[in-house]
Amino acid sequence: MAYLDINGVVRKFGGLTAVNGITLAIEKGAIFGLIGPNGSGKTTLFNCINNYYPPHSGDIVFKGKSLKGISSHEICKLGIGRTFQIVKPLRRMTVLDNVMSGAFLRKNSLNEARDKALESLDFCELTHRKDMLAKDLPIADKKRMEISRSLATEPELLLLDETAAGLNPREIDGAMKLIRKIQDTGITCLVVEHVMKFVMGISDRIMCINFGREIAKGKPEEIANHPEVIKAYLGEEYAKGQ
Ligand SMILES: Nc1ncnc2c1ncn2[C@@H]1O[C@H](COP(=O)(O)OP(=O)(O)OP(=O)(O)O)[C@@H](O)[C@H]1O
Ligand SMILES: [Mg+2]
Repeated sequence: MAYLDINGVVRKFGGLTAVNGITLAIEKGAIFGLIGPNGSGKTTLFNCINNYYPPHSGDIVFKGKSLKGISSHEICKLGIGRTFQIVKPLRRMTVLDNVMSGAFLRKNSLNEARDKALESLDFCELTHRKDMLAKDLPIADKKRMEISRSLATEPELLLLDETAAGLNPREIDGAMKLIRKIQDTGITCLVVEHVMKFVMGISDRIMCINFGREIAKGKPEEIANHPEVIKAYLGEEYAKGQ
């Protein structure tokens, strides 16, 4: 049994089947990339994993335990953290307070939560921003703050939704370094991303989906050269540049 087993997950919105029978096994310690065109169901699959949108059929098993019927916050407590495609800072709170809100998942006192948050901010190289209001952060640091907040919940598996979107090339390099550093601590990462340099550069394996279904699964170089992936998503221009 894999660390995270996604078995035939289906999620519908009215007549639209956003996730249509995805099956995926992720090994502990891996960075797994999930790619596909806009609207192909990537974020919905994340929302299924943490039961924000419970699957209509199929099952998700984390460390041998089915997540069926478990609430999102309990799933976080089981060790699955996440960030959001559209960043969700507590805008009028400081960066430190934002990260502390994550730390309170496991810490019962203010001091313990503050220490955990400071450790997490240091890990994400964001200590210098700790007293700023979250709303005043530039986008790259807002994304780092979200990662820091999810790390403060002490996850074992981290779902990262478009960490590199909106970042400049230097910031993308920084984000790649950060994700590798997270992996080095033993945390497994599932990464949704459109920035190919990022996802091809950090993933051990990648799955490409379209219309909620798998097109291909494999190593980054296999995916980059896969005819169906090129046709549905990457395009001929990308393939020529390989
Ligand atoms: N809450 C919802 N209600 C209705 N339809 C939804 C909802 N959430 C997602 N969808 C639809 O499900 C499909 C998959 O959306 P999803 O956000 O998972 O795509 P995505 O692969 O993350 O796309 P992107 O790359 O643009 O972020 C889309 O057609 C979307 O409009
Ligand atoms: Mg999305």
